[in-house]
Formats: sequence, structure tokens, C-alpha cells
Amino acid sequence: MPRQAILGISAYYHDSAAALLVDGRIVAAAQEERFSRKRHDASFPTHACRYVLDDAGVAYDDLAAVAFYDKPFLKFERLLETYHGFAPAGLSSFVTAMPAWIKEKLFMRRLLTDHLGELGHARHRVLYPEHHLSHAASAFYPSPFDEAAILTIDGVGEWATTTIGRGRGRDIEILSELHFPHSVGLLYSAFTYYLGFTVNSGEYKLMGLAPYGHDGSTQVRGFTDVIRRELVDIRPDGSLLLNMSYFDFATGLRMVNEDKWARLFGLARRAPDAELTQPYMNLALAIQQVTEDIVLRLARTARDVTGCRHLVLAGGVALNCVANGKLLASRLFDDLWIQPAAGDAGGAVGAACAVWHIHRRQPRAATACDAMTGSYLGPQFSTLEVERTIRAFGARATLASNVEALAATVAARLAAGEAGGWFQGRMEFGPRALGNRSILGDPRNPEMQKRLNLKVKFREGFRPFAPAVLEEDAGEHFDLDRPSPYMLLVAPVRSDHQRPFPPALQEAPLYDRLYFQRSHLPAVTHVDYSARIQTVSRTTNPRFWELLQAFKTITGCGVLVNTSFNVRGEPIVCMPDDAYRCFMRTDLDFLVIGDYLFDKAEQPPLDAAPATFAPD
Ligand SMILES: [Fe+2]
Repeated sequence: MPRQAILGISAYYHDSAAALLVDGRIVAAAQEERFSRKRHDASFPTHACRYVLDDAGVAYDDLAAVAFYDKPFLKFERLLETYHGFAPAGLSSFVTAMPAWIKEKLFMRRLLTDHLGELGHARHRVLYPEHHLSHAASAFYPSPFDEAAILTIDGVGEWATTTIGRGRGRDIEILSELHFPHSVGLLYSAFTYYLGFTVNSGEYKLMGLAPYGHDGSTQVRGFTDVIRRELVDIRPDGSLLLNMSYFDFATGLRMVNEDKWARLFGLARRAPDAELTQPYMNLALAIQQVTEDIVLRLARTARDVTGCRHLVLAGGVALNCVANGKLLASRLFDDLWIQPAAGDAGGAVGAACAVWHIHRRQPRAATACDAMTGSYLGPQFSTLEVERTIRAFGARATLASNVEALAATVAARLAAGEAGGWFQGRMEFGPRALGNRSILGDPRNPEMQKRLNLKVKFREGFRPFAPAVLEEDAGEHFDLDRPSPYMLLVAPVRSDHQRPFPPALQEAPLYDRLYFQRSHLPAVTHVDYSARIQTVSRTTNPRFWELLQAFKTITGCGVLVNTSFNVRGEPIVCMPDDAYRCFMRTDLDFLVIGDYLFDKAEQPPLDAAPATFAPD
């Protein structure tokens, strides 16, 4: 029987992506931004589609189906009704936004058909699972559970902003929905905006800023009370109503009514590059705590209505790994699984899975672990292709004799205080680098965080870095009793490793607090002693595991700083050329691509050059 391949697509809003399912197995997935080099690229994912098809050796014309991650007409209806419902307040934005609608929303199906026409000649029927069904499918079908409660939370899809459902075998049942404009994601994004970060990408910064807030202080308690009293009515089941007189996202071109918020909080909106003073940190903590409370209530409701012992999550809010950590600690469920591409990119995987299992009634394959295979679903490059990069740039690179030798050399350099790029195998799908497109450093080094932030990543320095730890050793360093392969769980550094924070520093400027050595792993311990953990398994990523093991042999510590291989404002590197360019533009000490170790040292004279690669 010929293979049946389904192409899943998410596009036209945020983080376009493509995914390919072959006989129900997720074989490839990638975001368009990695190819186009435009961060959060929302255009049709032509490059990503071509990549997933080529990778699997599937011709577009031979596809069994194409799945798009939401229903364009329902979305258009929501946009129209919202503007209509809020008129005349929305009239100016209606006029401003209309041309974009005409081009992109009303004719989205046509646009999609045109773009698909560039991939091949066949006129495939396109199936449109709803946006939150795509999220739910991305959370449940690849999960390791036969049966689970499903919680999807984001800004908005067509109408739904949150859904609770149940997955069982090949079936998904959506049991309840919360509708636009009442949205946890949009509430969080409104605060992201008010705190001077970019909506749809700065939410992570808000989450990283929150621990600087003074927990239990009068101001944090006051902010929390105001949020609950004026901005959002949170019901016991986690559903909520936003007080729309404070929000502009439905009608305006801004997220919030800034004048009203300024009066409410006694704090003006922070300008994007303005100083992060204590009141802003306290406001960040207040909304983070309110969000955690909502997520916990929703999870409790999901457990009560489904009776399931397992929970799966997707939607942008599921990337809030601090809330996920609280959810795990609450013991509401025996176990959680979170789709690593929980945002809209993951909708491409979900849409394809929904078509395969729901529309085509195909059973799920039994699997001992999850079906995202570490999220290593992107392109990989052969040694010949790396050698092409070496030649093209006249780079200095040495070929390692084997993986063990490479790991030993790199581990020794990291232990000596160097920071390097680590590019191996298939690129990660989703927002996190998980050891295949990563920048690595020594987490024990007191200077590492400062160095990576200011000389390599060129980013705001207040966010800590994440640790990658040998799966077997996670419990030695962190208070975590299960794997966290996708860096989506936050847990405390073990209490016996914590160093008490001097009360005198409590009011110190942000960076003095950040750079205080809070544990034996200062570069990855946040100001509240938490860490955003990636556990590395020998099965899913043997090379990265080997490197961590080599680092442990030298230092006794099987942990490395793992941050994404990019600089501020750019997508994570995809190809060897991207990696080399990024390496040369930063203060990184070395770069590894496959079996090659790159250095920046002056090119030696030709006769002394290492024999590094074979000619074409
Ligand atoms: Fe979404």
C-alpha cells in the first residue's frame, strides 16, 4: 500500500510552519522563519513546505491531504463581528485595517490555493480543523498517553481562546470553550505590552522579569487585587470575563487603554528601552501570579470534568513554563505532557494529526514515549555540506576523529571558561533550542551569564539562562522528579545547593540581584532559585548526552548552559552558513558543526593548514 502523507500548515498570523505526517508518523516539521531569516515570519511557509516534502521524499502531487490550522471564514466572521459590535469606537481601526483584511483574510482560501499551487500541480482538497482543535490535536496525539484531559490556552483562534477537552485513542472531544474577547493569552499580552515588551514575542521576558517582583509585598498584593477587581473576573472554574473598557485589542490598534491603566496602577506604560524599576517588576509578578491561578483553576476543572489522570497542554500560554511548573507541583495530575511547539507553529502538526486521526479515522500507533522525537524534526546537513561552508568562508576547522574525541575536546574548552556554538543533526521544531542549535557554556562559572548576555546574545541581561542536564542527574541538582525534555518545566534548584540571598541586596538594582551567586550553578539559577530545565536523554540526543557526560568527567557536573544559537532579534540558526556567520559576529570562542570544530584564530599558512576536508 502506498504511503499516505499529510501536509500540515500554519500561516498568515504568527510563526508560520509546515509539518509532514507519513502514515501517521510525524516525520518533519519546521518554522518558516528559520529559512527566510525573518523572526516570527507569518507569510506562507513555502520554504518549510518544500523542506518537509523533500526530507521525506514525498512529491506535493502525491500527498493524501493538506491540512490548514484554522478556519479562515470563522476567523473572518469573528473579526467582522467584533468590529461591528464595538462600533463606532472601532471605526478608525476598521478603516485602517480593512485593506489588510481584503487581501489576507477575506481571500485567505484563495491565497492559500495560490501558494499551494507553487508547490505542485495537484489540486488537493484542503481540510480546515479549527484553531483550538489543531492545538488540542498537537497536544494529545503526539503525547505518550492513551487517554488525557486536554487544555489549550492562547490569545485567540477563530472564536475560542481556551478549551477543555478529552482525548481517548483516536478521538478528541472538546467539552467547553471560552470565547473572544475573554482570553488569558490576551490578558497576559496586554501586560507584556504595558511593560514595554513586544506582544507575541515578549511574553517570555515578562515571565523572566516576574521573579524580581517582591513576593508578598504590599504593592504586589495591591496590583493583584486591582487586576482581579477591575480587569478580570475569574470564576472558580477558571473561566473569565475581561472588563473590555480597559482593553483596546478588540477595536483599536493598541492592546490597552493606557490612560485608564496608568490611573489604575499609578504607573505609566514603560517605554520599550526605559529602565526596569521595582514597580514594573512587581506588576510583572502580579500578572504572572494571576495567570498561574487561572491555569491551575482551568486544570482543576479539566480534571474534574474528564476524570483523567494525565493532562496535555498546547496554545501559547502553555509555553509559560513557570505556570507549568506550578501545575506539576500541584499534583492535580499524575503527569503532564506539553507540546514543545505549543504556539501557533505547532498548529501545523496538530492540523495534520487531526486530519489523520479524526477525519480519516486512523488509529494511533502505540509508542513508549512521545511522538515528537525530541522535537528534532528540522533539516540536517551532511559532512559534505559542512565542508562547503568551510570552503565558502575560508574557515579554519578541524575534523574530529570520532564523537568521543570531539566531546572530550569541547568539554575541556567549556570547562576552561569558553563558550561555543553546538550545531548537530536535525534542527529543533518550536521556540527552544534543545542541543542541536545551541550556544553552550559552563553553568558553574560566575561570569558566564554576564558574558553570554552581553557579548554573545546582545540581549537584555535580566533573564537567566537555562540548564541542560543529563537526564539521570537531574535530581542531583534540581527538585524535579521526572524528565523535562522540552525545557517547558521550571523547578527549584535543590535546597541544599541554594545560597541564602543577603537581605541587604533585596532592594539592589536588578543586575546586582541577578549576578549574586545563588547556587553552585549561578548562570542558570534565577533570582527565585528556579531553573528552566532541559533533561537530556541518551536515546533522543546521544551526541548532546555524550558532551554532557564528557563535561561531567572533567568537572563532576553533568550540566551545561543551553541557550538558543542566535543573536537578539534573529531566528535560531538553521544552516551551517547561518551558524558560521553568527559565530563570526559574536564573541563565541568556538563552533562545532557536526564533526568539525571551528576556531577564529588567524588562518595558518597553507602548508601548515590542517587537512580538514576532501575536495569536491
Ligand atoms: Fe493559537
